[in-house]
Amino acid sequence: MAAAATTAGKKTAVVERVVFALNGRRYEVAGADPSTRLLEFIRTQTPFKGTKLGCGEGGCGACVVLIAKYNPKTDEVTEFTASSCLTLLYSINFCSVITTEGLGNTRDGFHAVQKRMSGFHASQCGFCTPGMCMSIFTSLINADKSKGPEPPKGFSKLKVSEAEKAFSGNLCRCTGYRPIIDACKSFASDVDLEDLGLNIFWNKDDKNPDEIKSSQDHPNVDSIAPPREGWYHPTSIQEYYELINSCILDDSVKVIVGNTSSGIPGYKDEDLYNKYIDIGGIPELSNIVKIESGFEIGASTTISRTIEILKQECESVSSPNGSMVFRKLADHMSKVATPFVRNTASIGGNIILAQKYPFPSDIVTILLGAGATVCLQVVVERRQITLEEFLEQPPLDPTTLLLSIFIPHWISDNQTEKTLLFETYRAAPRPLGNAVSYVNCAFLGHASVDQQSDTLVLSNLHLAFGAYGTEHAIRAKKVEKFLTGKSLTALSVLGAIKLLRQTIVPMEGTSHPEYRVSTAVGFLFSFLSPLAKGIPQPGKALTNGSADSTDTDYVSKVPLPSRRETISNTDYKPVGEPIKKYGVELQASGEAVYVDDIPAPKNCLYGEFIYSTKPFAYVKSIKFKSSLASEKIINVVSAKDIPSGGENIGSSFIFGDEQLFGYPIAEYAGQALGIVIAETQRYAVMAAKQVIVEYDTEGLSPPILTVEQAVENSSYFSVPSEYYPNEVGDVSKGMAEADHKIPAAEVKFASEYYFYMEPQTALAIPDEDNTLIVYSSSQYPEFAQSVIARCLGIPFSNVRVITRRVGGGFGGKALRSFQVATAAALCAYKLKRPVRMYLNRNTDMVMIGGRHPVKAHYSVGFKSDGKITALHLDLLINAGISEDASPTIPRTIISSVKKYNWGALSFDIKLCRTNNTSKSIMRAPGDTQGSLIADAIIEHVASVLSLDANSVREKNFHTYNTLQLFYPDSAGEASTYTLYSIFDRLVSTSSYFDRAESIKQFNSSNKWRKRGISCVPLIFKVEPRAAPGRVSVLNDGSIVVEVGGIEIGQGLWTKVQQMTAFALGQLWPNGGEGLLERVRVLQADTLNLIQGGFTAGSTTSESSCAATMQACNLLVDRLKPVLNRLQQQSKDVSWDTLISQASEENVNLSASAYWVPGQDSNKYLNYGAGISEVEIDLLTGAITLLRGDLVYDCGKSLNPAVDLGQIEGSFIQGIGFFIYEEYITNSDGLMISNSTWDYKIPSVDIIPKQFNAEVLNTGYHKNRVLSSKASGEPALVLASSVHCALREAIKAARKEFSNSGSGRSPLEFQMDVPAPMTLVKELCGFDIVENYLETLSTYELADGA
Ligand SMILES: Cc1cc2nc3c(=O)[nH]c(=O)nc-3n(C[C@H](O)[C@H](O)[C@H](O)COP(=O)(O)OP(=O)(O)OC[C@H]3O[C@@H](n4cnc5c(N)ncnc54)[C@H](O)[C@@H]3O)c2cc1C
Ligand code: FES
Ligand code: FES
Repeated sequence: MAAAATTAGKKTAVVERVVFALNGRRYEVAGADPSTRLLEFIRTQTPFKGTKLGCGEGGCGACVVLIAKYNPKTDEVTEFTASSCLTLLYSINFCSVITTEGLGNTRDGFHAVQKRMSGFHASQCGFCTPGMCMSIFTSLINADKSKGPEPPKGFSKLKVSEAEKAFSGNLCRCTGYRPIIDACKSFASDVDLEDLGLNIFWNKDDKNPDEIKSSQDHPNVDSIAPPREGWYHPTSIQEYYELINSCILDDSVKVIVGNTSSGIPGYKDEDLYNKYIDIGGIPELSNIVKIESGFEIGASTTISRTIEILKQECESVSSPNGSMVFRKLADHMSKVATPFVRNTASIGGNIILAQKYPFPSDIVTILLGAGATVCLQVVVERRQITLEEFLEQPPLDPTTLLLSIFIPHWISDNQTEKTLLFETYRAAPRPLGNAVSYVNCAFLGHASVDQQSDTLVLSNLHLAFGAYGTEHAIRAKKVEKFLTGKSLTALSVLGAIKLLRQTIVPMEGTSHPEYRVSTAVGFLFSFLSPLAKGIPQPGKALTNGSADSTDTDYVSKVPLPSRRETISNTDYKPVGEPIKKYGVELQASGEAVYVDDIPAPKNCLYGEFIYSTKPFAYVKSIKFKSSLASEKIINVVSAKDIPSGGENIGSSFIFGDEQLFGYPIAEYAGQALGIVIAETQRYAVMAAKQVIVEYDTEGLSPPILTVEQAVENSSYFSVPSEYYPNEVGDVSKGMAEADHKIPAAEVKFASEYYFYMEPQTALAIPDEDNTLIVYSSSQYPEFAQSVIARCLGIPFSNVRVITRRVGGGFGGKALRSFQVATAAALCAYKLKRPVRMYLNRNTDMVMIGGRHPVKAHYSVGFKSDGKITALHLDLLINAGISEDASPTIPRTIISSVKKYNWGALSFDIKLCRTNNTSKSIMRAPGDTQGSLIADAIIEHVASVLSLDANSVREKNFHTYNTLQLFYPDSAGEASTYTLYSIFDRLVSTSSYFDRAESIKQFNSSNKWRKRGISCVPLIFKVEPRAAPGRVSVLNDGSIVVEVGGIEIGQGLWTKVQQMTAFALGQLWPNGGEGLLERVRVLQADTLNLIQGGFTAGSTTSESSCAATMQACNLLVDRLKPVLNRLQQQSKDVSWDTLISQASEENVNLSASAYWVPGQDSNKYLNYGAGISEVEIDLLTGAITLLRGDLVYDCGKSLNPAVDLGQIEGSFIQGIGFFIYEEYITNSDGLMISNSTWDYKIPSVDIIPKQFNAEVLNTGYHKNRVLSSKASGEPALVLASSVHCALREAIKAARKEFSNSGSGRSPLEFQMDVPAPMTLVKELCGFDIVENYLETLSTYELADGA
């Protein structure tokens, strides 16, 4: 009987095929593996490649698509974004999916959103752009569904204030977001067009921009294979239980709704599943029932829908107090994850995660605070219990279904005059979401006045705390009991906080435990102190809750109008014009081809690295767990497969080689041990997770993991003398002249991961006669070619490395790209089949390495007026396992330190060899650390002397003479030393002094928030390198250009295109603007154009342009006589006529050049300055960047729009390094902050609220390429101004609370890099609330006495 029911249930619930529309085309798919993600299907089974894989865990937005779903119950279509990397293919049955190609494309015309992204220069490498387009597009169409007046044609109902949120959660590593916000704002009906940044569209008169069109349907049919069971979609509770009682549970089965939990580290799928039960179709789980006492929300309701329902309820309730709880819940929920995750993530799924695992849920905490209950189905029984009881139960198994959540309707009690209080809080690295909380809370209660004591008393308290390192959220019952009925005074608040500290005890192993506890204390204090008698409220200072802030000052209004200024240079048109990026529409429409977009060749296999988790150990064996994923392994390639004659080499540079595989010893955690080969990329990734490596450390010395251990063991790399920087002057003499000395102080820098949006990738295809074509996402194909050839033991000429474009590199795809390309090549060579590698984001983060960690120790002597007389530095640089490019780092660090005149400068630098991943060049390598070392010293000196840091800075600026002393090879002519004028200009345009003054006032009237401002100068040395170029004109007059440089988003192709048009245009008096459209820049191909070199160091664009110009000049010389002859017949000779004639006359229409910088042009200095203003919240450590102002000298910019983009983008990237990005390793040196969850690059909500950037045009620079200067890296260094401003704000806090910690002046403290909110709070003091309350309580007791 049971069996019969089971079979019947199974049959009805099974879904054998999935039918959906993709970009208007009908797809019917059967037989697919049920664990297939929508993204994987789109990318591998359809022609659409716009949707990108950036992380695979819902954390980056590269994969965002629009899903339209029809609801037969309401007869409505809902359109929402979703992360296609988490969405399972079968779950989109009967939906319509649109990717960026569906919005617009080359053939059908580009969509307005794509055009705006292009025209606002909002795409650099372009890898994030398709996802951005989808998020913006969906926000626009959803805004237009709202009530309210129709916007003018071409605009949307979206408001300017909502623009930033339209794509919150979508990460971009290149642009710094400002131009993307502008592109989005340009659609807003309330936009002031003059507030928009640099763009190619408007003047104010322009009233009719492109219309926002929806996509159309073109039904079509596709692929049907034999059905395969594996997806079950029960439509009733009974069917569900029939299913789980049936034999399908014998297999590996997963019950899901949105499947977003598969993106969460720790709860991610570790193995493949055979079968899925999608419970989203059970009606009881989707019901929304509103009754007088509250709301019952079906467990599979998405978080977005829940927010909508709660908000609707707020709108319909007349009394604001009656809806307060719902409103604040909705506000808090809108900071959970990202819009594209919330749109599919169910509220029930979140609660279950928190019930089963120690997941830091926000939803559970706030529902606990709101007194929610849950309804459960346990086989045939239905139970209603409190959420608290539910959380205490043993972890749920599939026999229990969460049906719904009931949220009571709380109101104030007018009869008893009890006022309802409700507040929620979360402390997280990002304010708008896409970051789980360190701690979250929700506090509910009723307050009434105790007439006798004239104080408030609380009743009905729910004090919920979660995410602080707890199994699940809890109610602080003891604190509730303590406070209930008590008069609220400083003393009782202090008592409550002391009890809270005993209650909130993070589990062992929780990161930042003290921070979490202290912040929980801060939240309770924020809630209680406005109610308590005797706690003054200086300023509107307390931490904002989830609700709309009562704070009225400008911090809360985002984003503010910002200025972006460039001056076009018309001397060399079209060079110097802010033309849009070459091929940018293709990037927006997803048609631009990155390595992983190249269609997989027949028989293609996929590889994923197996890496060591130990730092120094013999690898005894590599085995795999028996699992579904392991069954997918086709092969494992390791060091033993390197052909005879080949070498175990995975990377190389002028200083030495690095192994491909750790063999026979794994030398660091994160080193490749082998490659798992499977039939799909996901199978390879999953299979690699099943590995069990046996290690043996017998007979081996302990690993060297830190620079201190390296010193103990004298484990150093040597730095060739020509790379070792030069000291200046006599330090002992300088010290002797000093009035004061700081004998010993320190600043430390952690590493930084590149976080290019496109992970490392390569596709290797074996060809005839032992040759290979390797498509590599590399900044250095020339060297990739040689490493591959050496690994395989074949001539370089057998290896063709092709790179079209790179989805972000930042130095990480220079030398670090070789191991991926070489691994793919080795597998392809061995297996004689194409092999593709596309590193899983977590693997990429663990293996690739990053910026150099540095420990800087300084002693400095100075006069009483702040003039520094001598500086000595001891630097320990952690280079990791191999030299890589590390021997160049001492030089770049010192080069940036030299930006001030130290009087005399000496140093001792140790380049430490450690058992860590090799550290490599990362955007502004060395300079980034050097610049902050310099400014940390200046600030330290200012603190000791109690002087304004800026005056100390200016005191130590170089004169032209000292500049020559410190930079003898690159100071250039006196007229090019523009730092003084830049600094003055910046200080005056940004009203620095007025602002510094008002910050003082702000700080004196606000206890719990402090502000700081800082102004930092920049001197940045660059060295252009030799570069090849070839320009060829085809018979139809179209032009193709090949250069050595790689387009990595920095606009190299655009500048080359402009340069070609300019240089060939020299043939005509009115220039070559008309030729722009005819120029095509080709991908790099190492067998086509040799000596391509290195795309790094900010100068590749200018050297590629220089080579292009030389090649064009050769052509001009050849064409000039032909033109002259033609012009004798007719004055107006067109380009086409000229080329046709030249071709007929057998003129060689292809010219090559190899530009080598002259003695005078091989090194020069860049100048700029930046001012940052920040605010910190002392209760949470939260950092708000109020304003950033930059001025940068670009010489005569080749393309001001491109350069401005580089400057803004690099500045924001720098903020990531100095403030947000925590590169955390375990005790074996293995990187453990290896996901989008733990590693927080800047998101749109952290960029300065006001951001003014100016590109200066500083006239003629005779040794530069058309007077231009570099822009790619230097401005990153200016982000150190944020670190310095933060220090100022912390100083103000320490002054307020007299926090010194070490017996030193509270103004002197070490502040390392990065300085995230956890560190800010630590430096302000973890116990400031208690100390403050103690003081108030003393008065209170004294008064009472
Ligand atoms: C990038 C990202 C960021 C996030 N950030 C946050 C955050 O800041 N704060 C926060 O609180 N959460 C956060 N989350 C968690 C997110 O809210 C949950 O992943 C989501 O709500 C789970 O819902 P789902 O429908 O996708 O569940 P699924 O992944 O489908 O299922 C999750 C688990 O619940 C079980 N399950 C689901 N529904 C039921 C039911 N009705 N009865 C019994 N079992 C059930 C499933 O079997 C599975 O074990 C984030 C998630 C992602 C991916
Ligand atoms: S790839 Fe899906 S969110 Fe990053
Ligand atoms: S343009 Fe956004 S990641 Fe490169």
